[in-house]
Amino acid sequence: MRTVLVTGGLGYIGSHTVVELQQKDYEVVIVDNLSNSNEKVLDSIWKITGVKPHFLKADLSLADQCAKVFELFTEIEGVINFAAFKAVGESCDKPVEYYRNNLNIILNLLEQMIARGIEYFVQSSSCTVYGEPETLPVREDSPIQRATSPYGNTKQMAEDILRFASDTGKVKAMALRYFNPIGAHESALIGELPNGVPNNLMPYITQTAAGIRERLTVFGNDYPTPDGTCIRDFIHVVDLAKAHVVAMDRFFEHGNKAAFEYFNIGTGRGYSVLEVIRSFEKTTGVKLNYVFGPKRHGDIIRIWADTALASEELKWKAEKSLDQMTSSAWKWQLHLKG
Ligand code: UD1
Repeated sequence: MRTVLVTGGLGYIGSHTVVELQQKDYEVVIVDNLSNSNEKVLDSIWKITGVKPHFLKADLSLADQCAKVFELFTEIEGVINFAAFKAVGESCDKPVEYYRNNLNIILNLLEQMIARGIEYFVQSSSCTVYGEPETLPVREDSPIQRATSPYGNTKQMAEDILRFASDTGKVKAMALRYFNPIGAHESALIGELPNGVPNNLMPYITQTAAGIRERLTVFGNDYPTPDGTCIRDFIHVVDLAKAHVVAMDRFFEHGNKAAFEYFNIGTGRGYSVLEVIRSFEKTTGVKLNYVFGPKRHGDIIRIWADTALASEELKWKAEKSLDQMTSSAWKWQLHLKG
């Protein structure tokens, strides 16, 4: 069995990835500082897979705590890094904290890996690196635009750090550029659990439908798109999670073609905010209370992925439909209500 360290493994994407890894017979060590997650997720993972992953609470942005992880778990052969602060708006108010946390985690992990001869690193990156794209769909060689937030900049800088670290020949890295993950595991035992008022669309929709929020504000309805609302490449979180297993397999099977690789992880199809709302209403039978409001500062008008490279190289493709995304998100919200 191969052992993989999953940082931020109790978070939204991390927990779904741990489930997929364990179901493909990887042994998983989760490290999480619980800043935006809950230790109960461990039991949910256990229930779904029948295996309880190893878990250590630690802050990887601190070099000594990071070193301790590798001292305790000497069998680690690869790392998947989800540990990061991720609120775009907050990052503009707290740039120093965002750079310190998100980049120190990567530097500390790399330092330990290089010292111990651990080669494989998968980084959660984001389509935010492309900014507002000039041509669609965006390809991996589309230009990287100047970041509009410290959060986005940490994603770009993380890729640069990994590119140069890979140039030494001591590590091999892969950045997966996620589009917009939504939805939840079919068991409804794990899902997105935002702290406080959600920033992102899908949890705002489900919390509004559940009566936790009074109404959803759709940010802008006069964008130059068919229905006037923004367009995103929404991807089911389980499809996204599976891409990480494929990425790790590629390393272990020596399938990677360069020391640093990067892939778009999306469906290749864009849906508007209104289309997501309609899908939610259709699949759940719940009428959503929403109003149109002003545009949100910094929003990209439209973006969706060219998925050819992931499909050719990783032999990975997203399989789940928008309806499966919205209905599973609702199932999870209902599970939370108990
Ligand atoms: C945002 C970040 C992105 C980050 C991702 C992860 C920006 C510009 N981008 O993506 O970098 O990787 O979150 O969390 O912040 N919307 C509403 N009402 C709401 C919430 C959202 O209309 O209450 C709309 C937004 O205007 C947008 C779409 O829904 O058009 C998707 O928004 P969201 O879920 O926040 O994702 P992104 O902004 O695409």
